[in-house]
Amino acid sequence: MEIRDFAEQIFFADTLEGKLTNPAAALMSAPHLLPSLTDEQPGDAVDWQRPSRPPHLEIASKRKRKRIPRAESLHDPEMRARTLHAFGNHELMALEMMAWALLAFPNAPRGFRMGLVRIILDEQEHTRLYIERVQAMGAEFGDFPLNDHFWRIAPQIKDPLTWVCCMHLSLEQANLDHAPFYERVFRSFDDHGAADLMKQIFTDELMHVRFGGHWLRHYTPDGESPFENFITHLPKWCEPHRARGLEFNEDGRRRAGLDEEFIARMAEIETSPGPS
Ligand SMILES: [Fe+2]
Ligand SMILES: [Fe+2]
Repeated sequence: MEIRDFAEQIFFADTLEGKLTNPAAALMSAPHLLPSLTDEQPGDAVDWQRPSRPPHLEIASKRKRKRIPRAESLHDPEMRARTLHAFGNHELMALEMMAWALLAFPNAPRGFRMGLVRIILDEQEHTRLYIERVQAMGAEFGDFPLNDHFWRIAPQIKDPLTWVCCMHLSLEQANLDHAPFYERVFRSFDDHGAADLMKQIFTDELMHVRFGGHWLRHYTPDGESPFENFITHLPKWCEPHRARGLEFNEDGRRRAGLDEEFIARMAEIETSPGPS
């Protein structure tokens, strides 16, 4: 299968099944076959556009959207369902953006494109698992209003470097803080299913951030600071505070392969109020 076909099937699918059915399904059970994905016809670069969505997963008007519930309120099952629902939408938005990145950067190195394919498989799994948790709380995916926070940044992403700075080193890096935080919160309310999911997501996110760090170094000229390159290539609306949570997980960043200067400079960035 061509990578372009893989990406188009996800990005243009107008059903949830289409977004989550891996067109390269056989590869899931045999990841060693992944290198057999071909990339001979990556096609022309595709500008950002809103991906297709089924009617029940359309983005809600701003008036109808609600903020993610506060951590203190998560003893309430409905608040937990709303939180898990919002996180599931984050996963879905991320994987749609990743499919677009494959369409937008046809000339990126093969390692970059293959790495993105692997990450999309993880994000599809994360979306599925969040939906299962939402259903375990008696709700359905699509029951609560959905936002488009990640998509708003997409038109500002013009090349693979700004892509890794925004997606992998901002949105995903922040999850190295958010995921352990929510694992602890869910566990404190005896929701071990949700807590275990946050733990799995943290583990997978280490690899996704590692991918971002690798390509940031690749695109940083010799002798220059990857952190400086990161800061100067953040696209509009992807401010540095989006790359961290309230509790800074230094060790997680080290495990994700970020260098000591990068970690120290990140720790100095003022915090954001939390995931949105
Ligand atoms: Fe994810
Ligand atoms: Fe991720």
